[in-house]
Amino acid sequence: MPPARPEVPAERERPALAGADDLCEECTLTVSMDDLVALCKRRGFIFPASELYQGINGFWDYGPLGTELKNNLRDAWWHDMVRCPPLGPDGTPLSIVGVDTAIIQNPRVWEASGHVGGFNDPMVDCRETKNRYRHDHLMVLRHRDDATVPMFAFMEGEPEAVHKKLKKLAKGRELDEFETLALTELAVADFAHVIGPDAKAAGTLTEPRQFNLMFKTYVGAVQNEDSIAYLRPETAQGIFLNYKNVLDTMRVKVPFGIAQIGKAFRNEVTPRNYIFRSREFEQMEMEWFCHPDDAKTWHEFWCKQRGQWWQSVGLRSDDLQLRPHEADELAHYAKGGAGTFDIEYRFPFTAPGYGELEGVAHRVDFDLKQHQEHAKSKLQYFDAERKERYLPHVIEPAGGLTRGVLAVLCEAYTADPERPSKVYMKFHPRLAPIKAAIFPLVAKEGMPEMAHKLYQELRTRYAVEIDVKQAVGKRYARMDEAGTPYCFTIDGDSLGDQTVTVRDRDTAGQQRIAIDKVGDFLAERMR
Ligand code: GAP
Repeated sequence: MPPARPEVPAERERPALAGADDLCEECTLTVSMDDLVALCKRRGFIFPASELYQGINGFWDYGPLGTELKNNLRDAWWHDMVRCPPLGPDGTPLSIVGVDTAIIQNPRVWEASGHVGGFNDPMVDCRETKNRYRHDHLMVLRHRDDATVPMFAFMEGEPEAVHKKLKKLAKGRELDEFETLALTELAVADFAHVIGPDAKAAGTLTEPRQFNLMFKTYVGAVQNEDSIAYLRPETAQGIFLNYKNVLDTMRVKVPFGIAQIGKAFRNEVTPRNYIFRSREFEQMEMEWFCHPDDAKTWHEFWCKQRGQWWQSVGLRSDDLQLRPHEADELAHYAKGGAGTFDIEYRFPFTAPGYGELEGVAHRVDFDLKQHQEHAKSKLQYFDAERKERYLPHVIEPAGGLTRGVLAVLCEAYTADPERPSKVYMKFHPRLAPIKAAIFPLVAKEGMPEMAHKLYQELRTRYAVEIDVKQAVGKRYARMDEAGTPYCFTIDGDSLGDQTVTVRDRDTAGQQRIAIDKVGDFLAERMR
């Protein structure tokens, strides 16, 4: 990992604020995060962790619907990357195997990987409020001509807060008298004139210090320097540690991949934007081992594949972009290679800019070389076809599972004032937590019995629900909020002609199909 961790700012080039109108236009979002967060809480997707005890910053619990959604995204990735990976550039199936490695490893692993020495974020503290901020996440609003006007610091992506503050503090001044710049562009001496994001007085921000992001713990009964261990900050290292085990036990030949999905932990200085940056999260990573000469081709291949995959699970291409890291963002392991591309998504809080969803890095042979040296163990690969011994290069598509869930939730949220629910979640059927709901129109005349029979048939194959309570309109509304693509209603005619009504979540249109065709109907649409 990089000594200085590059986290992509929403927009690298920020225009100076031109005026209140422009500011408002810039902030126009299609989905309000407040509305999304409220729906996720109300419908059991995501809850704040330890809510009974006022929560704990940077940690989240997934409720019944959120767990299904996350598992579906995880399973889709595993299926499409491990069980049935894409065909390679020459049309032959790729070989990728999976591992599930320990969260706590020998601490020397993290010395070799560069995390102990260098997995740092620069932070500044505010002496007045005791708040702590990422140095590179703070922006400053500065008067263009008058150096006596204090500068206002604000969190990147939250210009509305400054707008309000400015109105209060700099009475009589127009927004276009000010320009924005990153705090990192200011000399530390100038911090004396900066009012922190939550402070009243100027000059309370400390100079930036490095802060290691790894969570520490102790292994065993004795707690001293020798028993310190770390919660893994990425799933990738567990893969590198098992590269030789996989080579020795599986019939894989370079090029091949090893994949892992699991929890990662980072003591983020400023966890924020809901589950976008949290302290406990899940990653979906694959290390693709290839000959150094082929790395560029594979890097291009994986960038394209991964972008297409996010589209295949429902993210619109308009909301996705592939962005190359600039020289100053490159991680040390990616230097000298084909670089890193980020697949970015236009989250409501980054719009009109984008935020990182997945990185596709060319890690050269950095990690294998480090472990070879630190563990004093030979990790070279003998390529029988080329008759050559070498350390493979690695292409790493590293995606966030929980961040992916957020992108999927944002994309799915669709306001519709005409519906009783006013909103529906337009999940790709593959990801929908509930695939179908079955409603007897009324709880009499044999309808509940028929509904239960259909439910019993479907539940062995799909996550389906049966709902017998309330008016059918209310039941549709509940399923719209849960993002259930299909609802089957059993009514008075069903008993006679053995048909049901299918209601489509997205169009709200209805059609009649034979009850014995419901299984096929769903199977066709779940693909
Ligand atoms: N092995 C490379 C690696 O870990 P990264 O860019 O630091 O690279 C990969 O992380 C992905 O993990 C990111 O693209 C993002 O989706 C997710 N991620 C990283 N930090 C996160 C955090 N604090 N909260 C949620 N997701 C995070």
